[in-house]
Amino acid sequence: MKVEEAIIHRRSIRRYISGRIKSCDVKKILRAAIWAPSGLNNQPWAFKIIRSVNLKNGLAKFTSYGSVITKADLVICVFLNKKATYNIEKDTMAIGACIQNMLIRAYGLGIGSCWLGEILNRRKRVQSYLEIHGSYKLMAVIAFGYPRSNPKGKRRKLERFILP
Ligand SMILES: Cc1cc2nc3c(=O)[nH]c(=O)nc-3n(C[C@H](O)[C@H](O)[C@H](O)COP(=O)(O)O)c2cc1C
Repeated sequence: MKVEEAIIHRRSIRRYISGRIKSCDVKKILRAAIWAPSGLNNQPWAFKIIRSVNLKNGLAKFTSYGSVITKADLVICVFLNKKATYNIEKDTMAIGACIQNMLIRAYGLGIGSCWLGEILNRRKRVQSYLEIHGSYKLMAVIAFGYPRSNPKGKRRKLERFILP
């Protein structure tokens, strides 16, 4: 698949059909994540992979987008490794790049995904639920599954974003 096709046609997928994502595909998604750029190449990310239905159901209670989590086959929580950080702004951008790599790689594998940020409003509670040490900071929860449909995005006009 062409890079351009994946970048432009990937959409957030919130409803999934049943189907197990193979563990080799999970690895491919994570491999894409860790090859993202980062300031000073500090690679400040860490991941918690969730496949257990119980854990997904519990996690879902922390966000108004819980149904995305419960319906997903796979959930990956992305953390900032505070011990690896050097500049919060740049490290946060690196995490964003790492997440985008995952979404794009998943799309290339025919897997839908949705980046969930609303759950961060309950970050502390989520971290204690997942038993994640305070030296990691939850940055996003990403849901993955085979798409129920492939929605088209609304048009985006390039000119709108170009400064004079
Ligand atoms: C930082 C961030 C937080 C997001 N949080 C949520 C969320 O909590 N729930 C959700 O359904 N989508 C969430 N999204 C997905 C956006 O709604 C989606 O990317 C946007 O509407 C554009 O649609 P597209 O991904 O299909 O291009 C988030 C995306 C980003 C980048």
